[in-house]
Amino acid sequence: MTTPTDSAIARIKRRIADDACVILDGAIATELQRRGAHGFQLSDDAHWGFDALHDSPDAVSQLHRAYLDAGADILTTNTYSILEAPSFIGDRDRGRDQDIDGNPAHWFDMARAAIELPRRVIADAGRESEVAVAFSIGGDVENESQMATVDILLRLFERDRPDLVLFETLSLLDDNLTLDAIDKFIARGLPVWVSFRRCRQGLCGIHGQLWGGPEGDRFGRLARRLEAAGAGALLINCLPVARVGGTLAWLRDFTDLPLGVYPNVGRYVESGWKFDPDTGPEEFAAQAMAWRDEGAQIIGGCCGIGPAEIALLASRMAGVPRGDGRARLTVEADATVPESAVPASAATHAGRWQDDAGRELFPLPLPAIVVDPGVFMPTQGSYLIWKYLFNGRVGESKTCLDIGCGVGILAIQLALNGAASVTAVDIQQAAIDNTMTNAFRNGVASKITGVAEDLYSFTPTDKFDLIVASLYQMPTDPRGRAGGHRDVDYWGRNLLDHLIAQLPAYLAPGGVAYLMQISILGARRTEKLLAQHGYRVRVVDFNLYQFNPVFHSHLEQIRRVEELSDAYHFTFGEDEHVTVMYLLEVKAA
Ligand SMILES: C[S@@+](CC[C@H](N)C(=O)[O-])C[C@H]1O[C@@H](n2cnc3c(N)ncnc32)[C@H](O)[C@@H]1O
Repeated sequence: MTTPTDSAIARIKRRIADDACVILDGAIATELQRRGAHGFQLSDDAHWGFDALHDSPDAVSQLHRAYLDAGADILTTNTYSILEAPSFIGDRDRGRDQDIDGNPAHWFDMARAAIELPRRVIADAGRESEVAVAFSIGGDVENESQMATVDILLRLFERDRPDLVLFETLSLLDDNLTLDAIDKFIARGLPVWVSFRRCRQGLCGIHGQLWGGPEGDRFGRLARRLEAAGAGALLINCLPVARVGGTLAWLRDFTDLPLGVYPNVGRYVESGWKFDPDTGPEEFAAQAMAWRDEGAQIIGGCCGIGPAEIALLASRMAGVPRGDGRARLTVEADATVPESAVPASAATHAGRWQDDAGRELFPLPLPAIVVDPGVFMPTQGSYLIWKYLFNGRVGESKTCLDIGCGVGILAIQLALNGAASVTAVDIQQAAIDNTMTNAFRNGVASKITGVAEDLYSFTPTDKFDLIVASLYQMPTDPRGRAGGHRDVDYWGRNLLDHLIAQLPAYLAPGGVAYLMQISILGARRTEKLLAQHGYRVRVVDFNLYQFNPVFHSHLEQIRRVEELSDAYHFTFGEDEHVTVMYLLEVKAA
């Protein structure tokens, strides 16, 4: 019978609280291969090392000892394949009919031995109060049979209790039983750490392939759910080192759980693990320093990482404080500014860099925004409206609509201003996901509803007090573009004109719309259309905007539209073009 070392897990929690880096061990299966353990061949068929508990337990023990000596705070059991174990152990044809004590082999006994081996190693070293045993469960709990294995493990742990349970290499948990399994262990008072094969961009293959499409803040939301359920730490594993960067800093916006990482180095080929000769202990430790700087509190290795890497990692991490993932330039750190030039109260610069309402303007409280791949990057047009919304605290207690929300910068500012609700519409699902992630990041997700819908088919049931829209406007040469299903945008005003025509259906009585219009579209037509629908317009702000390459590529058509209407832009010298972005306030006439 093994006993839990509560003091070991308490020490690990203290290390995290004291901002010391907790060191995990490295891989078992790939290291058994590297060491040529007796009869061991690494493959899915050999159950990723589990068989070694039966075939070469001494090799497993020696490896645990090597990780202990390397400085690991946690030794992980060799049970990664445990959920599959009942289906393959006890196969007498393969000769595995006895456990390490000479009793008939059963996966249950092997699981017990898996806990016993590191326990003995820790006890032999007299370090029971320092080093914890984590019971590994690899992969999602996908069916009732695997859940039955979990239930049996729960019974095993009543007598032979690991210090914590480590769920590893998980996907996302929304269509399987893993969350239920996690709950069961937590309900029995077992600390549970949860690790995902995921990076910032989503589910991630062993070679770094990105599986699945954009998924917004799903992983972040899951992190919160796990925190609420009582998980003890959130980690990422089984992904290549190159995919790690950015993920922990991103997760930090969602959860206060301790965060950790233990990636792979190398890759699996048919005959076993192929180690990466270019990433040795030095290179791995250097990468780990970057993860620490990004906020990692627990670091170790997955496949391809052995005691040599863990030893260097442990020594390099000693005394290194955790970063928060966000680079900062402080006045003090800038050697070019003489001390005498820095006012004593520079840390707060109270009163000097504030607006009339007392809001700090340095740094400007722009919402925290991450731009997902393929989603519209905010430009001056976005900032023009944002500034107006921010300055005037526009939207307070209003029901708001943001049409073409992109990354959600306007929707989020409206919510931060105290809007009653914000509906954010965009034709791109990725933009809606991105908006919701950013909303979550800024603490306003509950106020914002994302709707992936084309403006041409958007028919809300309720009207809105306030509408904002920064819509795409680009005169487009019709030649060669007539084959699509959408009208060619000759004047660049298709979306704007459509929105104006919809205003009576969208805008509540007494409501106001803020629309961005570029000067390469005419003002007269905008006014005429608005008047036709019963609205008046005034310019509340404007900005100058240097042509970007897209504008340059449409220059010919822009000139054509300018010849035929009151549209205009400025030209300087040979090829410098500048348009004006107007912010229009639209109200009932
Ligand atoms: C110029 S961007 C503005 C994004 C954001 N409001 C900002 O200020 O950064 C226009 C957005 O409208 C979306 N969009 C384009 N056509 C649309 C349509 N027919 N219906 C709804 N959204 C559309 C685009 O996907 C894009 O995110």
